[in-house]
Amino acid sequence: MHMCTPRRLLVLLSMIPVLLLVGVLLSGIPPRYKDVRSYERHLPQHNTTEARAERRKYIRFPDHLWGHGLNNILQESLLMSYIAYASGRAYVFEDYTWSHLPLPYTIYDFALRPTRIPLNSFISGPTAGGPMDNSHVPRAISSEFWNEVCPPEKRRIIHARDSPYEADGPVLVEWWKDHLAGLEDECIEVDEKERRVVDKYFFGGPRLTALFPSLSISPILASFTWSPLVLSALARNFALLRPTNPSSLFASSTPQAPPPILSGLVAIHLRRGDYKRHCPRLAAWGSTYMGFNSFPSLPDKFDPMQFNVTWQPASPAPGADLQFADNNDPEALKKVEAYYLEHCLPDIDQVVVRLRKVREDNPDLRRVYVLTNAWSWWLGSLAKALKKDGWEELVTTLDMELDSEQSWVSMAVDMAIAERAEVFVGNGFSSLTANIVMLRMAKGLTAASNRFL
Ligand SMILES: *[C@@H]1O[C@H](CO)[C@@H](O)[C@H](O)[C@H]1NC(C)=O
Repeated sequence: MHMCTPRRLLVLLSMIPVLLLVGVLLSGIPPRYKDVRSYERHLPQHNTTEARAERRKYIRFPDHLWGHGLNNILQESLLMSYIAYASGRAYVFEDYTWSHLPLPYTIYDFALRPTRIPLNSFISGPTAGGPMDNSHVPRAISSEFWNEVCPPEKRRIIHARDSPYEADGPVLVEWWKDHLAGLEDECIEVDEKERRVVDKYFFGGPRLTALFPSLSISPILASFTWSPLVLSALARNFALLRPTNPSSLFASSTPQAPPPILSGLVAIHLRRGDYKRHCPRLAAWGSTYMGFNSFPSLPDKFDPMQFNVTWQPASPAPGADLQFADNNDPEALKKVEAYYLEHCLPDIDQVVVRLRKVREDNPDLRRVYVLTNAWSWWLGSLAKALKKDGWEELVTTLDMELDSEQSWVSMAVDMAIAERAEVFVGNGFSSLTANIVMLRMAKGLTAASNRFL
């Protein structure tokens, strides 16, 4: 017996990696988007003969963000492609990159996750190589094609460290435009290792919104659309979305053809999960609504100053995060924390009250779509509470019928729905919400149709 036990233990131990592997594989093997990759390779601008003959000018930002959520990547690539457009250079677009492993998958949350997804799986339009309407600026190219037409010896490397990275959006873009105008090189590569083109606060505040008037009429935003893969997921779920006119679900929404509204539908962004940790931190940092969520024309304002609480830098280092000052009244602190949670991580009763108020302002609303990463049991309780309050139906991210290529871009699918909803109720601290608000404003939907929790 006692000879056997250690051996058994060893066998059992050696089983653990096998069991883990089986667990990971059970969650499925993600798609490789070979079809979308091939589509990108065959974009008309990816013709070496023509590109060489025309001596097109390119700009690439190889130190682009990776390993971040879709909306941080989207914010950055829209801004960089706008700088490229303003400078008359073709933008070099990149894969949505989760990891630089030289493998198609990595492991995340006990499941396989694609290391790279071609950008055209998420978006179409000028940033992803789509046509630039009425513009002399050449179409964006993929980083793969860049390697072909711009081999290392042809690249001129310039540094972002000299740029006014703390300036307002329009000043920043103007600087890049002037700076690049003097350069005749076909292949410009921007080195951001020392300093990025914009600092980490840029997308959080008014320096970005100052850019909106020019950005929104440029092809970058005016011709932005979700990818056909994303729009196909909307069409597939027509029965859940119930458009007045079903063909409207196929329409990509450009300003020439604004998105047909899903009337009667309010889309609400309820991010939970990591926000349970994040929202209390936002209170301690004294954060306000991010970027496009702070447009002056939006009806719902966030004002933590009303509680007479003060914040101080957490350390003497420049640019340090804030924290609550030591001399605050504990009662006021409690109030301000509750205020942040109500607008960032509302409980079910608070969501019901909020949606009731939004329906009072928009009496045609009948159905709710929830963009969420919440557990289904929580959404079940929410559905019950909302039905009791007179809502006809609740549909959530989890109800969507998606194939494997669609499910890895499901965040974009959610966003396309929110972009078309009659009213959108966002989370003011979220970049996903900020991007939806930006798109709705760019398509000319009223500011009043964008609300916050
Ligand atoms: C690339 O462009 C050239 C010149 O316009 C054309 O002859 C050739 O067929 C194109 N190649 C491809 C693969 O489309």
